[in-house]
Amino acid sequence: MIERIAALRENVATFSTSAADEVEQFRIAFLGKKGHITQLFADFRHVSNEDKKAYGQQLNQLKTEAQAKVKVLQEQLSGGATTKVALGDITRPGQPISLGAMHPISIVRDKVLDVFGRIGYGLSSGPEVEDDWHNFTALNLPEHHPARDMQDTFFVQTNPDIMLRTHTSSVQVRHMESNDPPIRILSPGRVFRNEAISARSHCVFHQIEGLYIDRNVSFADLKQTLLYFTKAIFGTADIRLRPSYFPFTEPSAEVDIYWGLETEADYRITKGTGWLEIMGCGMVDPQVLINCNIDPQEYSGFAFGMGLERMAMLLYQIEDIRMFYENDVRFLKQFTSVS
Ligand code: PHE
Repeated sequence: MIERIAALRENVATFSTSAADEVEQFRIAFLGKKGHITQLFADFRHVSNEDKKAYGQQLNQLKTEAQAKVKVLQEQLSGGATTKVALGDITRPGQPISLGAMHPISIVRDKVLDVFGRIGYGLSSGPEVEDDWHNFTALNLPEHHPARDMQDTFFVQTNPDIMLRTHTSSVQVRHMESNDPPIRILSPGRVFRNEAISARSHCVFHQIEGLYIDRNVSFADLKQTLLYFTKAIFGTADIRLRPSYFPFTEPSAEVDIYWGLETEADYRITKGTGWLEIMGCGMVDPQVLINCNIDPQEYSGFAFGMGLERMAMLLYQIEDIRMFYENDVRFLKQFTSVS
């Protein structure tokens, strides 16, 4: 019996054809219901106990080899295994592709640009490395002006005239210098301040600046624009304008929105008042217009500036600003769009 198996294994090894019906005949002859292998398995019970092991091993070997042979021949007939691998089997299930996500700061920036875009605001941008004129002097902050201390500045060591911009207000100046009114622009961008890093402040963050210059622009226009904006982004027109001071706007105000005092977190982030500051704004100081060659007798306008991290922290309830810069994918993947 062992010899018979050996002979059949030899037959299997040498068998070759390129005709489909011959492959099928081979399959039936070896693996079919009445085929050699089925027959041999049926004979197995007659084998003496001591031979069972060797016999069984040989028989299983034969079966595996015959099955493999049929498979190879069938594959060759249906175009060949090699071409199939090369082309890829398009019927196989695909590998899942995980999609990237927008950074929450980018989502909020785009949303703000979209909201203002609908009322006619275009885009303007300026450099991150700025000179003294655009970051300070033209904005009514001459050298030694105490208000320069409001923003601790990173200077380029070899030249005290060159610095990393401390706010996007520098882009207002650049835009007014090279464009005539009417002006309606937003300028988003990175700003830098020499501040200690904590959960609530960072030395690099993002702002969006807005500027509107035309004939007869009044504080009422500023207020209506702010109402439109807070309604669109925060879903509330419940705001208050707190008198404030910026050297480049007069009068100046800080905008608070009513956040409410429903949860413990509300108490924490609003310091128990229910109100939250979201941006600074004001009427562009006539001196700033003069510095940018715009006649304040003819034109007036307003400007505002907001911090994007702060907005994203409120909208997404993020309590640590550092999360935005660590780029932990588990954090980033959670954000889709605002409201
Ligand atoms: N530049 C101010 C800041 O960085 C914000 C601001 C912009 C205020 C425009 C008034 C007008 O805090």
